[in-house]
This record gives sequence, structure tokens and C-alpha cells, in this order.
Amino acid sequence: MRILVLNGSPKKKSDTKRLTEAFLKGLNPADEHEVHVFDIIEKNIAPCRGCFGCWQKLDGHCVIDDDQNEILDLYRASDVIIWSFPLYCYGMPSHLKAVLDRTIPLVKMKMVQLPDGTVRHEALADFSKIHTLVICGCGFPNWEGNFDSLRMQCKTCFGDPDMVCVPETPLLNVPAAAIVAAPLLERFKKAGEEYGKTLTLSKETIAELERPMIPAEDYIRNVNGGQ
Ligand SMILES: Cc1cc2nc3c(=O)[nH]c(=O)nc-3n(C[C@H](O)[C@H](O)[C@H](O)COP(=O)(O)O)c2cc1C
Repeated sequence: MRILVLNGSPKKKSDTKRLTEAFLKGLNPADEHEVHVFDIIEKNIAPCRGCFGCWQKLDGHCVIDDDQNEILDLYRASDVIIWSFPLYCYGMPSHLKAVLDRTIPLVKMKMVQLPDGTVRHEALADFSKIHTLVICGCGFPNWEGNFDSLRMQCKTCFGDPDMVCVPETPLLNVPAAAIVAAPLLERFKKAGEEYGKTLTLSKETIAELERPMIPAEDYIRNVNGGQ
């Protein structure tokens, strides 16, 4: 399998990337898969100019000659795409959103209406074989009212992908929290194994991965310096 990981954390020691790396250990235990990990912050990817030049050429590439075209080539050739990123202002970090915006060369101007009435652009090729997984970490202890807009955006853009939204992820880089972080990393590894077999995650597995590491009240008290 070809696996493309789009890491949207700008940090060297990313909480979310630790989860994704644990997941990959389970998914690719014997290095049998071709895995491309892109640290988007290190790439030269300009924001979309909105020129629709890609819809004139229709070759699956952007008219801006930067690193996005390499991503588009890998995107098309991948079996699995993992979007791994921290939640920023209830959405994706802006440098990763630029990557998402610039997948527009993968669709045509032509619009199609789906049976449920929604309107979409027709895909440039058949991308139905691509399995998308979203792994998102965040700093709040809750996910209600925090991940809602991101969930909706990913559902619409990626066609109902598997999504794992993990609260309290800064605990992953707190040495004193290793006692609760290590079991979560182990659960991610196991989830990677499951995904390797089924190319999806069960509701039960997702619930296990999204379970807060410590109760919200304790987390908030610690963040607030014990107050
Ligand atoms: C600009 C910015 C916006 C953020 N917005 C949110 C947010 O809307 N909700 C939330 O729970 N955490 C938010 N956070 C916290 C990060 O999601 C959290 O620190 C995460 O663990 C960072 O993951 P990383 O280490 O993988 O980059 C924000 C952080 C930054 C820097």
C-alpha cells in the first residue's frame, strides 16, 4: 500500500504526530508499505490564488510551481491518506488548509448534483480507492463544541472519512503524564493494526482513542496551575 501522511503540526515535538507515529507502527510493522510523511511546515506551499488555471490545464497540477504538485502526484497514487494535525481555532492550521485548498486541481469545473441534493465538482479521476483518515489533537479536554466545525469540513471534503479527534494532547509531552499517555499511544498502535486489516476503524476503537486521558476537571485544574 502507498500511505501519504500530511503532518500539519508546525512543531518539532508534535503531540499529534506522536499519535500518528504510534498508529503507523501498528499499520506498517514490517515496513512493507511505502510511507511518505510530509511535514507541511517545512514545505514551500503558497496559498491558492483562486485563478482556476488548473481547470484550464486539467492535468492534475497547480499552475503555481511549488511543493504542492509533488503532494498532488502522491495524493493521486495513494491508497491511504492520513491528515494529522493539531486543532487550530476549531479547524486546520492555515499551512495545511493551503494544501487542502490546492487539491482543487483534482476536480473539474463541471458540477454534479448528488442524490441528497448537494452539489460537487466532478473528480478528475476515480479517487474512490483512496481511504482517508483524519487524526487531530487538541488542547481542550472536551470535543463537543470544539471539533464540530472540523468534523463537518472533513466530512464534506473527504466524503465521510475515518476521524479520530483526541482531546488533552499536550499531555503527551508532559513527562509526569506518561502513565496516561503511554496507554493511549499503545491504543493508537493497536488501532493501526486494525486499520491495516480493515482499512477502517470501528466505532468502538474510535471511542477508545478519543477518550480523555484524565477527567476534564483535573486537566483544567492542572492547566490553571492547580487552581
Ligand atoms: C493558534 C492555535 C489555535 C488553537 N486552537 C485550539 C482550538 O480551537 N481548540 C483546542 O482544543 N485547542 C486549540 N489549540 C491547542 C492545540 O490544538 C494543542 O496544543 C495541540 O496539542 C497541539 O498539537 P501539536 O503538538 O501536534 O502541534 C490551539 C493552538 C494554537 C497554537
